[in-house]
Amino acid sequence: MTKKRQLGSCVTFFPQPTTLVATVDGEGKADLMTASWAGIVSKTPPTMAVSLHHNRLTYANICATKSFSVNLVPAHLAVQADYCGITSGRSADKVATSGLTLTPATLIEAPLVEESPLNVECRFVREVELGEYRLVMGEIVEIHALEEAFAKYPQGDARVFDPLVYLGGIREYWGLGEKSADAYRDGKRLLENEAD
Ligand SMILES: Cc1cc2nc3c(=O)[nH]c(=O)nc-3n(C[C@H](O)[C@H](O)[C@H](O)COP(=O)(O)O)c2cc1C
Repeated sequence: MTKKRQLGSCVTFFPQPTTLVATVDGEGKADLMTASWAGIVSKTPPTMAVSLHHNRLTYANICATKSFSVNLVPAHLAVQADYCGITSGRSADKVATSGLTLTPATLIEAPLVEESPLNVECRFVREVELGEYRLVMGEIVEIHALEEAFAKYPQGDARVFDPLVYLGGIREYWGLGEKSADAYRDGKRLLENEAD
């Protein structure tokens, strides 16, 4: 049997994307927050979920204006993303300090991060309370993807997006690495092994 270490009830090591969640407050002041507990959770309807501690300014902003954008962080923006994850917008202007640029979204009040290769516009739909966290769900109303990602491959080239992977618990950022297989295709090789 493969030897494994039991780590108990914890959240360590599971790889997550690194994202920047952009919001505005009721007066239109913008904030940026790093979130790794973020992902697409439904295709019909297109839905994104972000898990936020209830004391985040980002959570208060979403409650106030009912919108947020989730901006994929590419590997070369690791330092800016880390900064936005260790300081609250309650005590600093993270947009100014990080040097990141905000641009207006097309359908929501919250802005987009210009330097991100993939921006997801979300309209708040509901939340689920998880202890100190709030799983905030938003309908995906628009996505902006860097045009150059489609130059060679019609479905988009992952190397252009270059997503920064976050390993919580050990607190490290990694790159995406090499492509391993094609989804919904390479698994078909095992279909012939299925028992009748
Ligand atoms: C890599 C990384 C990932 C993070 N992911 C989350 C997350 O998914 N949810 C959360 O509530 N906080 C997360 N944080 C912490 C927040 O980004 C941090 O508390 C931030 O200061 C909140 O900013 P705000 O108060 O301006 O919203 C993360 C921090 C780092 C460095």
